[in-house]
Amino acid sequence: MDLHNGQLGARELFQAQSHIYKHAFSFANSMSLSCAVQLGIPDIIHNHEKPISLPDLVSSLQLPPSKTNSLHRIMSLLIHLGFFATMKIDPNHGDQEGYVLTPSSKLLIKSEMANLSPFVQAMVDPVLVTPWQFLGDWFRSNEETAFETAHGVAMWEFCDKNPKFNNTFNEAMGSDSRMMSLVVRDCEGVFGGLNSLVDVGGGTGINARIISEAFPGIKCTVFDLPHVVENLPQEKNLNYVGGDMFRSFLSADAIFFKCVLHNWSDENCVKILKRCREAIPSKEDGGKVIIIDMVVDGDRDEHDIAETKLVFDILMMVLVTGRERSEKEWEKIFLEAGFSHYKITPIFGLRSLIEIYP
Ligand SMILES: C[S@@+](CC[C@H](N)C(=O)[O-])C[C@H]1O[C@@H](n2cnc3c(N)ncnc32)[C@H](O)[C@@H]1O
Repeated sequence: MDLHNGQLGARELFQAQSHIYKHAFSFANSMSLSCAVQLGIPDIIHNHEKPISLPDLVSSLQLPPSKTNSLHRIMSLLIHLGFFATMKIDPNHGDQEGYVLTPSSKLLIKSEMANLSPFVQAMVDPVLVTPWQFLGDWFRSNEETAFETAHGVAMWEFCDKNPKFNNTFNEAMGSDSRMMSLVVRDCEGVFGGLNSLVDVGGGTGINARIISEAFPGIKCTVFDLPHVVENLPQEKNLNYVGGDMFRSFLSADAIFFKCVLHNWSDENCVKILKRCREAIPSKEDGGKVIIIDMVVDGDRDEHDIAETKLVFDILMMVLVTGRERSEKEWEKIFLEAGFSHYKITPIFGLRSLIEIYP
């Protein structure tokens, strides 16, 4: 049987059907992952200290025994996706297998420093998922973002008005930032010698705390919108200032941005960086801007990384007015804002550390 004027055979069309269904249901992957996080499965497996059988997992999670088969099915999908694996429970005795963690689920253990559970939970929160259902409507509208089409206000304003979601989002970003502690001590060449640093859009201060602990000589200030930093306690080397970076700015040896500039259009990034240029000392006196964000490289990024960066680019379009950028696109912004050169160090996995100099 030939379809479509004989160009594609039934085999290819059934493959195409499978491809469509895989992606039409890819939300099932995120929801199953979130379910595992919500139930605390990575923690239970971690605390068990050896491969855990299905019945033991059910009883440790205190689930009704009638859910045993359902849990087995969720675990099968998550094993397929690389979040868990199975191993013999006792290599010297019998063939019974139990569940173990993989590197990905080790990053979902709530008691560990590097724990991305809050990030997973926030990304499937209805507040962040609903705008995706308005994407088509948004294309035909004049609103700036699908978030606004869905919720009637821009995302930062929504956070201001909804303390519960504000907290969920800040926790998510905090968990993402804790990953910085894995490499920040290796960044002597970036942070060593600085006396002061302002973390602009610094959230609840996780990055600034990691930097100030690794480099105690730096006086760090977190600058973010008032609803994010109000009530956070000032500390010796770490203090918080509330404000809007489009209206006021603080001076320091270095201005730091993590996951901030990708939230904004090129035009707004140039405005922000021009303010940085005025806020830091000259090149001779060591002034610089430090950015942690993605650098898209379609030719060199491996397939999974390229896909994640493409997804983040759409995420920036759906939620805020930003985008992910290639090196050329970053360079254009830096030059337009009056900076003379930059250095990219790809040390944060998906993200790079970019230093830009006056
Ligand atoms: C994606 S979060 C990044 C938080 C933090 N840098 C991190 O990586 O964990 C962006 C941050 O920018 C802040 N922000 C948004 N608009 C701002 C503005 N006009 N002035 C200062 N901060 C702003 C938000 O409140 C939020 O904390």
